[in-house]
Amino acid sequence: MDDRHSAILTEARARIAACAGEEELRAIEREYTGKGGAVASLLAQLPGLPAEERPAAGRAANELKGAIGAALEEARQALASQALERARDASDFDPGLPARRSARGSLHPVTQVRREVEDVFVSMGYSILDGPEVELDHYNFEALNFPPDHPAREEYDTVWCTTDGDRRSGGDRLLLRTHTSPVQIRAMERLHPPIRAVAPGRVFRQEQQDATHEHTFHQVEGFVVDRGIAVGHLIGTLKGFLRELFQRELKVRLRPGYFPFVEPGFELDIRCPFCQDGCRVCSQTGWIEFCGCGMVHPAVLRQGGIDPEVHTGFAFGFGLDRLVMMRHGIDDIRHFMGGDLRFLEQF
Ligand code: FA5
Repeated sequence: MDDRHSAILTEARARIAACAGEEELRAIEREYTGKGGAVASLLAQLPGLPAEERPAAGRAANELKGAIGAALEEARQALASQALERARDASDFDPGLPARRSARGSLHPVTQVRREVEDVFVSMGYSILDGPEVELDHYNFEALNFPPDHPAREEYDTVWCTTDGDRRSGGDRLLLRTHTSPVQIRAMERLHPPIRAVAPGRVFRQEQQDATHEHTFHQVEGFVVDRGIAVGHLIGTLKGFLRELFQRELKVRLRPGYFPFVEPGFELDIRCPFCQDGCRVCSQTGWIEFCGCGMVHPAVLRQGGIDPEVHTGFAFGFGLDRLVMMRHGIDDIRHFMGGDLRFLEQF
């Protein structure tokens, strides 16, 4: 840099040093290093210089620009720390405090227990399957041995999407699935025995809501199809699953139960894990209804393309929401979808 450059730098530094704020700094920056500023006019003079002087003159102009830029940066940092000091003096703001942690969400209690259930079944060699929530009459009822007008359909207060056959569904009626059992048929159509699968998912019924009934809730379907499957396998599987889930041996009992897609069909109850002889969870009975289950009906196997003379199977289906309620002592199922953060934040 020659004397001219040094003079510009000295002047710029003095003005920067006297600056009281960012606004002023920006004005100085424009004046010296901006378009049409002092450095720009030095560069504009380059073409008029003898060719051998141009490189050194260009370098000097750039050095000047760099030095002014450094002085501006230094001044900005000084201003920022002065502002911080002022803020600290003016309030109880403490820049040394760790930052506030942003609120973290958590998994819904039904999701947490669903994952636990899935883990237990995966450890037992089961696959996890999925099925559509908007289902065809065929899979929800017909193929599960509920012919049209079968009285058992009444048990499932169905939300229909279309009352007439729908063109897109090949003329079949669409509904919101009332249970996870349609996945049995869908799985049998696609997979060959041995099949060992669970299908957790959302189901829908036109229910009058109360503390134990929701219109939207969750079930877990489980089914096995293989050669020589018998009731003993069903009971052993459910006992093994419950042992893993509750981390202790639970007594179970079977009562006859009617579902058109199993024969014989049962209701499986578990001995209340929370009391000896009656509490609020088991309505003072000592037993809790856990699931519907049974041996897959031969007509259902045939619907899934499986020969009942060769293969047999068992199936079960339980409500996940009621299991979560039992687990956490929740007295009203409506909390699950109520969206109240005070409830959800407890999990
Ligand atoms: C069924 O839905 C059968 N598909 C179960 C099954 C599968 C039987 C395989 C045999 C073989 P059920 O309608 O009982 O069965 O319902 C099963 C469970 O869903 C019930 O035990 C209960 O825990 C839960 N459940 C039923 N209705 C509701 C509701 N409105 N709100 C919350 N949970 C419900």
